[in-house]
Amino acid sequence: TDTQSTPADAPKKPVLPDAQTVTEVKHWTDRLFSFRVTRPASLRFRSGEFVMIGLMGDPHPETGKLKPLLRAYSIASPSWDEEMEFYSIKVQDGPLTSKLQHIKVGDQIIMRPKPVGTLVHDALLPGKRIWFFATGTGFAPFASLLREPQTYEDYDEVIITHTCREAGELKYGADLIESLKTDELLNEVIGEGFWKKIKYYPTTTREESPKMGRITDLMRSGEAFADLGVTPLNPETDRAMICGNLAFNLELKEMFEEYGLEEGANSDPKHYVVEKAFLD
Ligand code: A2P
Repeated sequence: TDTQSTPADAPKKPVLPDAQTVTEVKHWTDRLFSFRVTRPASLRFRSGEFVMIGLMGDPHPETGKLKPLLRAYSIASPSWDEEMEFYSIKVQDGPLTSKLQHIKVGDQIIMRPKPVGTLVHDALLPGKRIWFFATGTGFAPFASLLREPQTYEDYDEVIITHTCREAGELKYGADLIESLKTDELLNEVIGEGFWKKIKYYPTTTREESPKMGRITDLMRSGEAFADLGVTPLNPETDRAMICGNLAFNLELKEMFEEYGLEEGANSDPKHYVVEKAFLD
């Protein structure tokens, strides 16, 4: 019988192109949330890369046509993970995040399966220490790279700085770093105690916390290096990745050039790489 087939006039269930299903949503503050979605079996990416994700936009007022609303999001999960994780800001009048912040487990989002990006190990020359510099949701690519075995294979020391306005905005990163201690895969592949290679330096600028100030100012004064017990960056030993707001990225680039570090790319690996954190 053909009772299983859909009659031609039956309403069709709207299916998003490149749809993935939401498997987890966590709200960290009234401005920040993270979520996980299914991963297409064929999708390969390098830890630190980004993809375009989004939702179907509202119908065009005249034509009624639907167009996807997509933005570049760093993948926060590592390349080996069976799901994909993202870390996002909520902008109340943001075209995408005003809607995206309401997703629930079981909902679908659009994810274009074309990962790209410069915050990848391939874009850096070999070195002894790797620095990750983030502001706000710029932590996302480092959430991927911190869970990537290659990070610990390639470097003796991993230093992550994260500057946020308020203390609550540090929680996603702080929890992630804490979770590394019991990460079975990393403990197995890299060896127990691998996480002792990590130095974590969280700072806030607009709310009281154990360390206050912009990381740029704390480096200029030497305070950050003294707190961490490390020497300032130099091109012989140090590699760095930057992901934050535009002003932050530019300021750090300028500082790095003063230290003698040069910007690398996939096709031309050097000392540091930069990517702008997503803002709706
Ligand atoms: P501040 O509060 O002093 O502006 P935002 O939410 O605006 O993207 O900022 C995230 C964090 O990045 C804030 O703590 C902010 O500090 C900091 N920040 C903004 N611009 C710079 C910069 N040029 N250098 C260092 N930190 C910056």
